[in-house]
Amino acid sequence: MKILIFGGSGQLGHELIKRGFDLNFELVSPVQSEVDVTNPAQVLSFTKRIKPSVVINCAAYTAVDKAESEREEAFHINCEGAKNVAIAAAKTNARVIYISTDYVFPGEVRRPLLETDAPHPINVYGESKLAGELVTLDQAGGKALIVRTSSLFGKKGINFVATMIRLFQTQKVVKVVSDQQMCPTWAGWLAEVLLDLVRINTTGIVHASCKGAISWYDFASAILESIQPHVPEARAVLEAVTTSEFARPAKRPVYSALDGTKLAGLIGRPAMTWEEGLRSYLIDIEIMDSTK
Ligand SMILES: NC(=O)c1ccc[n+]([C@@H]2O[C@H](COP(=O)([O-])OP(=O)(O)OC[C@H]3O[C@@H](n4cnc5c(N)ncnc54)[C@H](OP(=O)(O)O)[C@@H]3O)[C@@H](O)[C@H]2O)c1
Repeated sequence: MKILIFGGSGQLGHELIKRGFDLNFELVSPVQSEVDVTNPAQVLSFTKRIKPSVVINCAAYTAVDKAESEREEAFHINCEGAKNVAIAAAKTNARVIYISTDYVFPGEVRRPLLETDAPHPINVYGESKLAGELVTLDQAGGKALIVRTSSLFGKKGINFVATMIRLFQTQKVVKVVSDQQMCPTWAGWLAEVLLDLVRINTTGIVHASCKGAISWYDFASAILESIQPHVPEARAVLEAVTTSEFARPAKRPVYSALDGTKLAGLIGRPAMTWEEGLRSYLIDIEIMDSTK
């Protein structure tokens, strides 16, 4: 099966390409200089040339705080780009998978969020991703799947785990918010799930994050505990702070865990826990040894 991936150089795209090749999918992933998703003609002509069965759109503007002051750019990539990809997929009779986020939710409901829960973003990034979801569903001729995920960490790119590992070795005190909960998700697991979803041929919306809701502070504690035996330089002291003490341009949902029941039914297995995901990531970046 031929898969066209936009955003293949990103954190998730990197894992997707690695696993896709391992599983013998035929993959094509142009870099941004070859196909800019905001350029409709480029997206359409490339898609027509490749004739994929499925298009996975991982291309995104992901700078959550910067988006507050770069609204137009965020919408340009996350919504206009998504529209171009969905139209190209529809014109070539391909299915399209758009990767979205837990940040489409406001975080007011204190239980894992269902696909049927109403989205209501509280920051520009979330608004632009919700707009991307809607335009994808609208333009893809009934052949769109929206996969919402959360708090990704993968080998390539900057993410919370990589940042913590660096700070634990370079700072005396590391402050992390303790009043926001989410599901940290290993990008390697999500990539495997996406390839399952490619084969299953489903449409609509599905939530896909590792299992277990945790605060950023507790997650940081787990990271520190996991790496300390392997990284003796990781000697920082962790300090819990509240959201109001840790001012950032973009508001974050207080609780944005995603419910994995629908996904488990589709792929026939429960999601990996975030603990397993963290361990797999630490093995992947060679901090932990897979035999221990
Ligand atoms: N990271 C998270 O914690 C998180 C959480 C929930 C959902 N998501 C969603 O998951 C998806 C993947 O995220 P990620 O962390 O892998 O993102 P990422 O590492 O920031 O990668 C974004 C990718 O999009 C590409 N891109 C940006 N603008 C483009 C354009 N105009 N044309 C073509 N390609 C463009 C980038 O290419 P260059 O390398 O050339 O810039 C890169 O390959 C996104 O849809 C994101 O919204 C992420």
